[in-house]
Amino acid sequence: MSVNAKLQSRVDGIINELTVSQEILNKGVDFFIKSAEKGLDNKDNDPYGLPMIPTYVTSIPTGKERGVLLAADLGGTNFRVCSVSLNGDHTFIIKQEKNPIPVDLMSANSADELFEYLAKKIGQFVNTHHGDQASESKSDDNKLKLGFTFSFPVDQTSLDSGTLIRWTKGFNIEDCVGKDIVQLLQSHLDLLKIPVSVAALANDTVGTLLSRAYSAGAVAGDKQGDTLVGAIFGTGTNGAYPELIDNIKKLPKNYVDELKSKGKTHMVINTEWGSFDNHLEVLPTTKYDVEIDKISANPGYHMFEKRVSGMFLGEILRHILVDLYREGLILQQYRSYENLPHRLRTPWELSSEILSYIEIDDSTALKASELALLNALRLPTTHEERIIIQQLTIAIAKRAAYLGAIPFAGLLLKTKALEGHNKEVDIGVDGSLVEFYPGFRAMLRDALSMTKVGNQGERRVHINIAKDGSGVGAALCTLSD
Ligand code: GLC
Repeated sequence: MSVNAKLQSRVDGIINELTVSQEILNKGVDFFIKSAEKGLDNKDNDPYGLPMIPTYVTSIPTGKERGVLLAADLGGTNFRVCSVSLNGDHTFIIKQEKNPIPVDLMSANSADELFEYLAKKIGQFVNTHHGDQASESKSDDNKLKLGFTFSFPVDQTSLDSGTLIRWTKGFNIEDCVGKDIVQLLQSHLDLLKIPVSVAALANDTVGTLLSRAYSAGAVAGDKQGDTLVGAIFGTGTNGAYPELIDNIKKLPKNYVDELKSKGKTHMVINTEWGSFDNHLEVLPTTKYDVEIDKISANPGYHMFEKRVSGMFLGEILRHILVDLYREGLILQQYRSYENLPHRLRTPWELSSEILSYIEIDDSTALKASELALLNALRLPTTHEERIIIQQLTIAIAKRAAYLGAIPFAGLLLKTKALEGHNKEVDIGVDGSLVEFYPGFRAMLRDALSMTKVGNQGERRVHINIAKDGSGVGAALCTLSD
């Protein structure tokens, strides 16, 4: 089956624009390192710069930690409450309940609506799983300790306080911005008389880093090098890593001295790399990226995330398909834009899960993709249309994975983690793309080897899934001193 030459040449043009060359990768890595250094400095007041947020976590787990702790995790699409028993031997037992976040709460009128819902869900969990403790009235010291994973940019002021800088990933509750997230949750827990004290606030990437560091070594030979990065490639994308305290110029000098007097050398930084290159100095930009930024909840911010994370990949494909329709190149049985299937006209309707089926479809005439598109968008397609949809899908995902290598390479080079005799590095990752998108990790590694990390460096980097990372990590955070 060959594709009409005019259509194929237009699609080739788009694929070309989506291609990340070695030159873009190298420029990206250099610029990432520069942006990270600027972000660690207190002189950089650019709200569009790389946030590089100190997290007040100054120790990395060894795997010997013990205790039963609660954790709650507000991520992109679900609110999870869990109880984590750390066994002190790199293993843990987790009991958890997952609650989908009602869509109207994501853009509620007030923060109270969202936090009352979260407190109620924590209350229900405590009643079910810790009923005996919940029934006794507790003094503050005896309350159950909870680590709260809040996966949005927060200006952290201590381990258990921090104000929301801005929402990402489709959330938009204006009166929450600038408020202390721990206080909000604690006040609703107190109002509902739930005997839980929020002891730590953590980004999901910090949780992923700590949980991978705790788990590495559970199986003999499974720990190859120290854990350097915790990263998420899911609805959003972001990473955290331990930085030398001396390099975090924006921490007050007397606080740095105090930490050093306690023998601390590093603090975990939440990079918020979703906001890498908001000024678009190196990132490839198509007209589809511009359109998507405009309709997003946070225009102008998180430009890297909008090219890399799961929330956006399907939306990019949807924009391209509508554009090709408007140019008279596909789906010409529909007389006007208004006649196109409703779901193809609806933003955010095409999920990256569908792209993951199309990516590896090798069925005759791409029948599996035909079904997936019919199910997801009620969109009938011809074989020719599916051929170009698959080509575009592969290009969109490859761009995402290639760009995903930039912050990894940046952090590996910045921290010099691979320098020294036979040094190896462990990285913990979580999120739907790294877990389920076929080839995502492999493509990211291909790009990593094209950077200054090189083939040899890439071989010494071990990227491991940190399952349940953010829950276990938040629990570990409550133990951080
Ligand atoms: C978004 C959030 C960030 C989070 C990431 C992954 O980028 O801003 O805090 O870590 O999504 O969930």
